[in-house]
Amino acid sequence: PLTARVNDQDHLEIGGCDVTQLVQQFGSPLYILDEQTVRVACQQYRQAFARHYPGESLVLYASKAWNCLAVCALVADESVGIDVVSGGELYTALAAGMPAQRIYVHGNNKGREELALAIAAGCTIIADNWYELNLLVDLVAQRRHTPLIDPHELPAGVALIQGSPRVMLRLTPGIECHTHEYIRTGHLDSKFGFDPNQMPEVLAFAAAHPEIEWIGVHAHIGSQIFEVAPHRDLTDVLVEWFVKAAQMGLPMQELNVGGGLGIRYTESDDPPSIEDWSKVVCEGIVAACQTWHLDYPKLLCEPGRSLIGPACVTAYTIGSRKVVPDIRTYLAVDGGMSDNPRPITYQSLYSLVLANRMSAPISEVATIAGKHCESGDILVKDAKIPVCEVGDHLVVLSTGAYNYSMSSNYNRIPRPAAVMVREGQANLILRRETYQDLLRQDCVPARLQTH
Ligand code: LLP
Repeated sequence: PLTARVNDQDHLEIGGCDVTQLVQQFGSPLYILDEQTVRVACQQYRQAFARHYPGESLVLYASKAWNCLAVCALVADESVGIDVVSGGELYTALAAGMPAQRIYVHGNNKGREELALAIAAGCTIIADNWYELNLLVDLVAQRRHTPLIDPHELPAGVALIQGSPRVMLRLTPGIECHTHEYIRTGHLDSKFGFDPNQMPEVLAFAAAHPEIEWIGVHAHIGSQIFEVAPHRDLTDVLVEWFVKAAQMGLPMQELNVGGGLGIRYTESDDPPSIEDWSKVVCEGIVAACQTWHLDYPKLLCEPGRSLIGPACVTAYTIGSRKVVPDIRTYLAVDGGMSDNPRPITYQSLYSLVLANRMSAPISEVATIAGKHCESGDILVKDAKIPVCEVGDHLVVLSTGAYNYSMSSNYNRIPRPAAVMVREGQANLILRRETYQDLLRQDCVPARLQTH
C-alpha cells in the first residue's frame, strides 16, 4: 500500500520523494510518513463500515500508535475520530483541531485532571474501572459549583462544554487470541476493563447516576491479530452487554469493537485486509442485533497499527561493521532501540531495503544493530541484504505504529525528525531533537552549579 517506487537513480522513492535526498536534507535517522497511505487506510475502513453496516458508524484512530499534531490533523481531515489514552494525547488531539465530539478517552487509570480535561472539552470517556466511575460522579458533582478546569488549560480555540459527560463502559470480554503476551488485552486476566462478572453491579451503578449519559459499551481484545474469529466472537459479547445495559434503562447508543487488526512486517505475515476484517465485524454485529431485535447502534472501531503502521519507514545510515568469523556480521546504524523499541520489547521482526541501491543483488547475511549500549539493541537479526558500505541508507519498513510513540532518549540520543511526504513534497512534522532539547527539563541544585 505504500506509494513507493524505485526511481531512475535506483533509489527508493516514497510519496514522490527520493529517500536518499530526504536523508541528505533532513538528516538521519529519519521517519518518513506517506500521507496518501494513511488517507487510503482511513478511507478503506470508513468505506468498508459504510458498506457492511446498515447503521451509523465512526472509525477512530488509536493514536497511541503515533500521536503528534500533524498525524492528528491528518486523520481529522479524513473524517476519522481519535482514541486517546492520556491527558497528553488528548491535549495534542484537541490542539490539532480534532473536534471533541470525535475524541474518545481511554486508559486504565485516568487521573482526576485527565478526566476533568476530557469532561470540560466534551469528549467521550471510556470508563475502565470502579475508581473512574466514582471519580466521574465526583467531578460532575464538583462542576455544579466550580468549573473543572481553567479555560486556559485548554488549547487555543477549544471551548468549554457544559453538557453531561458521555461515558462508555469497557469490559474484558474473556476472549483469547494469538498474539504477543504483552499486547493481549481481552483475556479475563487483564488489567483493562470491568470483569464481566461485575457488569450487573456496574450497570446498576450507572442506572443510579443519570447525571452521566451512559452511551455504550467497549471492548478491545489485543493487537497485531491475524485471526478474525476472536473479533467475530467479540461482537456477540458486546451486543449482549449492550442489550442488558439498555434493559436497565441506560441511554445506550454506541458500540465500540476496539482495534487490533495486524499488519504485514515480513513476508511470512498474512493478515486479513481492512475490508475482510471490517466485514466480519460488521456482519457479527448485524447478526447479533437481529438475534436481540435491536435497532442498529452507532458502531465504532479504533484501529491504530493498521491505519498508520504500513505508512512509515525509518531511514538509517550505516556506520560500523564487525565481522565475527564463522558466526555473524554486525552492521550498525545510527539509531536503534530508542527510535524503534519493538524488536527488543516484543522480539518483533522487520523487513528492510537498501534505499540508495535498490536493485543491488542480495549477497550477504548481516545483523543490523542499533547504536545503543545494549547487546539486545538489534533491529533485524540475520537480514539478507546487498553488501553495504559506510554511508549507505538502510530503510526499515512499516515503522508507523508504536515506533515514534514509544521512542525514548535512552543513552541521551535525540529523537529523529519525521517528515510527511506527498506528491514529491516533504514537510517536517517533528523537528529533530537537539542536545539543547535534551537539557530542557534538567535542573541542577544550586550547590552543584558551577557556572
Ligand atoms: N483500542 C485499545 C483500547 C487499545 O488498547 C489498542 C492498542 C488499540 C485500540 C489499537 O490497537 P491496534 O489496532 O493498534 O492493534 N506497543 C504494542 C502495541 C500495544 C497496543 C496497545 N493497545 C506494539 O508495539 O506492538
